[in-house]
Amino acid sequence: MAGTCIIGLQWGDEAKGKLVDLLAKEHDVVVRYQGGANAGHTVVIGDEKYKLSLIPSGILTPGVKSVVTGGVVLDPKTILEEIDGLTSRAVAVEERLLISDRTHVIFPWHMAEDAVMDANPAGGESIGTTQRGIGPCYQDKVGRSYAIRLGDLYRDDFRQRIESIADVKTRTLAGLNGRADPITFDGAAIHQEYQAYAARLKPLVCDTTAYLLDAVEDDKRILFEGAQGALLDIDHGTFPFVTSSNSSGVGVSGGSGVPGRWITKVLGVAKAYSTRVGGGPFPTELDNEIGQHIRDLGNEYGTVTNRPRRCGWFDALAVRYTARLSGVDALAVMLLDVLSELPQIKICTAYEIDGKRVTNFPSHVDDLRKAVPVLETLPGWQQDITGVRRMKDLPTGARAYLDRLSELVGRPIEIVSVGPDREQTILE
Ligand code: GDP
Ligand code: IMO
Ligand code: MG
Repeated sequence: MAGTCIIGLQWGDEAKGKLVDLLAKEHDVVVRYQGGANAGHTVVIGDEKYKLSLIPSGILTPGVKSVVTGGVVLDPKTILEEIDGLTSRAVAVEERLLISDRTHVIFPWHMAEDAVMDANPAGGESIGTTQRGIGPCYQDKVGRSYAIRLGDLYRDDFRQRIESIADVKTRTLAGLNGRADPITFDGAAIHQEYQAYAARLKPLVCDTTAYLLDAVEDDKRILFEGAQGALLDIDHGTFPFVTSSNSSGVGVSGGSGVPGRWITKVLGVAKAYSTRVGGGPFPTELDNEIGQHIRDLGNEYGTVTNRPRRCGWFDALAVRYTARLSGVDALAVMLLDVLSELPQIKICTAYEIDGKRVTNFPSHVDDLRKAVPVLETLPGWQQDITGVRRMKDLPTGARAYLDRLSELVGRPIEIVSVGPDREQTILE
């Protein structure tokens, strides 16, 4: 049995989707185990581009099962739109997809709470969430009293529960919001809407924990697809500017129900530079023409919200931390082609905080805010590399950059990506 994990090592959008699609054919099952429709994973196959948010990126590979486990927060409307979109493009989704009855369901109040809380942060600075209701849904999961899981939608008391939660949410949101025209939730109408979603999803809903425990014992090859990135991890990321789930490697077992002993390999995914979307400190950020150059060439605009992504140099201190945290065996370095035109490229090797040199990633966001990156400069290669398919055919400058990056992070590089297409990948 091989359980391989794909974990983003930065602030998300490391091109996990491309990598999962590429590796799916060597697996029997692909698993999304945390996050929700805040994720936007892109897969490019020839002229076809697919944007996946809740459905695993293995869905495009025939013969592979895609599983959404209970650690995911599920917006039924969004997943149905995704299913319809893929079905209309001749992808056999209904044969390939399974959804856990343990997923927590996102309701209209979660979206409303997300908007109100992010617009009125107690600390003064917004997180800049994707407004998909992720945080409030996980809040209700942990709080338990107002949570509804997908399996609950098929129970007799569903209508009565949703109507009473709608009343509570109308009152609490009015308190949070303080608006003269409070947002109200019509429990009966929401019940009707969600009943229709539940009916459509029913053939796909099952106990995925049992399914995956059988799969590992039957020697099936499983690929775990992380969403977001380790620096957005709720416990180990740049709190509070994080998402609400364990998006580093530590989240795989909790979200999927598959014990860590079955995980045989962890592949850490990083861009050849850094990006971040939303608020929070970003020590190597380039708020200048180089940052704009990277944004233009890397098309760095959010897959979900279309917000311009903040761009900066590769932060080896941060990636070394997240690679260790996630138990990474090897690295996949993505979007290397985006750096091809730059005459010089920098890597952050340490931070200066209050005049002291620091090599451990700070645990408090205020220290990270003060971090001044210590940068090492390497020559660029100024050559098109999008057609390169073997490590040894890369220009000397590109190889030297990768070697240094690997040395600083402390992990070997196994895969290099030089363009969005499946084919634009260096595997040897
Ligand atoms: P994910 O959330 O980690 O799956 O990443 P996203 O899909 O949000 O963002 C990655 C973006 O980079 C997508 O638009 C991909 O099509 C694109 N991409 C992936 N690999 C490469 C690459 O090697 N070079 C370039 N130029 N683009 C890439
Ligand atoms: P993928 O899987 C990049 C960011 C948001 C915000 C913070 C919290 O495509 O890599 P949330 O809506 O989760 O409460 O927002 O996390 N964020 C992402 N950034 N890629 C993602 O997913 C992200 N999912 C959430 O921008 O800063
Ligand atoms: Mg993304």
